[in-house]
Amino acid sequence: MCGIVGYVGSKQAYPIVIKGLKRLEYRGYDSSGVCIGNRDGITVLKEKGKVSDLEAYAAEKDTSGSISIGHTRWATHGVPNRENAHPHFSGDRKLSLIHNGIIENYDSIKKALINKGHTFKSDTDTEVLVHLIEEIKNHEQVSLFEAVRLALNEVVGAYAIIVMEKGVNNEFIAARKGSPLVIGIGEGEYFVASDASPIVEYTRDVVYLDDGEIALINKDADLEIRTIANVSKTPFIHELELSLEAIEKGGFSSFMLKEIFEQPKSIIDTLRGRINPKTKEITLGGILDYEQKIINADRIIIVACGTSWHAGLIGEYLFEDLARISVEVEYASEFRYRNPIINKNDVVLAISQSGETADSLAALELAKEKGATLLGICNVVGSSIPRLTHAGSYTHAGPEIGVASTKAFTTQIVVLTLMAIKMAQKKGTITKSKYHEIITELELIPKKIEKILKKNDQIKKIAEKFKNATNFLYLGRGYNFPVALEGALKLKEISYIHAEGYPAAEMKHGPIALIDDDMPIVVIATKKGNYDKVVSNIQEVKARGGRLIAIVTEGDTTVKELADYCIEVPDSFDGLSPLLTNIPLQLLSYHIALMRGCDVDMPRNLAKSVTVE
Ligand code: F6R
Repeated sequence: MCGIVGYVGSKQAYPIVIKGLKRLEYRGYDSSGVCIGNRDGITVLKEKGKVSDLEAYAAEKDTSGSISIGHTRWATHGVPNRENAHPHFSGDRKLSLIHNGIIENYDSIKKALINKGHTFKSDTDTEVLVHLIEEIKNHEQVSLFEAVRLALNEVVGAYAIIVMEKGVNNEFIAARKGSPLVIGIGEGEYFVASDASPIVEYTRDVVYLDDGEIALINKDADLEIRTIANVSKTPFIHELELSLEAIEKGGFSSFMLKEIFEQPKSIIDTLRGRINPKTKEITLGGILDYEQKIINADRIIIVACGTSWHAGLIGEYLFEDLARISVEVEYASEFRYRNPIINKNDVVLAISQSGETADSLAALELAKEKGATLLGICNVVGSSIPRLTHAGSYTHAGPEIGVASTKAFTTQIVVLTLMAIKMAQKKGTITKSKYHEIITELELIPKKIEKILKKNDQIKKIAEKFKNATNFLYLGRGYNFPVALEGALKLKEISYIHAEGYPAAEMKHGPIALIDDDMPIVVIATKKGNYDKVVSNIQEVKARGGRLIAIVTEGDTTVKELADYCIEVPDSFDGLSPLLTNIPLQLLSYHIALMRGCDVDMPRNLAKSVTVE
């Protein structure tokens, strides 16, 4: 939800900022803009569309200057156009501001400012904030830092902002609440960004700003941080572990394809150091002190959004099946607003790739108020969810940049599996031999995924046959019902084809009416887990003329006779099969989207990190 970058130092700022914006483009890509400070004042460049459009627009312009702020937008207030693109300016154009988040009370502030004579050029909430800072600065006769601090005390909502002042070319001010912000510290220079990817090639020393903190960033001085309540804070410098390689395409045509093919390695990274090679004992360091709490919990409530919610459903099956712990899976956006019953003895587990999803964070805040134990499964180290929760486990999938979640999903399932088996072992709800069987199977998953990835050409040929379909139905049962939901979501979001995921047996209760010879049905029919029942469901589809693509276990003959196309996956423990069956569905969506001319990394209307509700 919008990416922001700032640089102040002695280098040319624009190339650093524009490169940073490209790295943050997964956060929003409907318009972008920069403000550059130089001896003559400021240069402002804005353009509708992607960062490359801004770059083309700026190609012939003077972009010199050693201080700059830049923004790539995912529209909330106001359509994507040049006027609404950031930076936004104070009435006297001396202050420029970029913002990620939403100012919820912007309307009342705007009305009050209009009464004081302010006029606005855009429809954004952000412009209101920069006018408010200007009003306070002029009226109270205070420094820009103090004006920002006072203004933020009046603001309700979420923000990560950078504010710079015309003519002041050695410093700017950054602040955050609810939206992420990282400050990179170099030699006589600072970098600010929504995540570390624009910073990593310049410095490894970073400070993660906390909620409610404001930083005065002056290239000639040490970093100064205060809270919006005006309490001074000592910056805590972390060392970045991110590698440059991890945020580049590495020879692949898109991040999505790279991330699909990275899954065997990502899973190895997720498992690394967590299974003792000799004893096969699982250690999840992040939840070690909370294991007993989880085992004794009345229930685990999983809160998540989108793909992470689908992983949560698989988690429910795993925890209940193996550890016999009762689980509820909730859309975070519904949970937070429906007055749910949460007890002190509940464990609330948030699953999130970014660790910044606004609804998931709000659901955790609510659970915190009620005294529940908070756990997280996240990918982005140091993000807001791991900082809010009592304990948790990282997925260690490496940066996921394609907007459609792929490797984050599989690694979330791996962590959920580790947690569930560990709890099952501790509770004694699975036998020793079952425990060892699952662990052995889990360790074989990366190799099995590699085998499935070799079917890429076969899947591409199937995609060719279905690329013009307008609707798709995905069916699965048991552990593979959430995979059907995820397969449909993947197709929808990157190819813009309408798709629905359903439990196969539910089809008779409505969706079967949709089936005719134009309707492709993707069915997951692996040998374990209600295989015979799924075969009956396939017969029902066949009898109505539906065109069938089936994901089957290697060596299957029954479904092969019924389906139009079959993609084989290796056999495994039923609870691990989503890690395999999901892979062909990712590739199918990828190829169909590409054949339809869609941008798989940046699908329309979407952004990777949803930091607004
Ligand atoms: C779909 C997708 C989204 C995210 C959702 C939650 O491919 O990526 O549905 O899963 O926005 O995001 P996180 O996991 O960052 O909380």
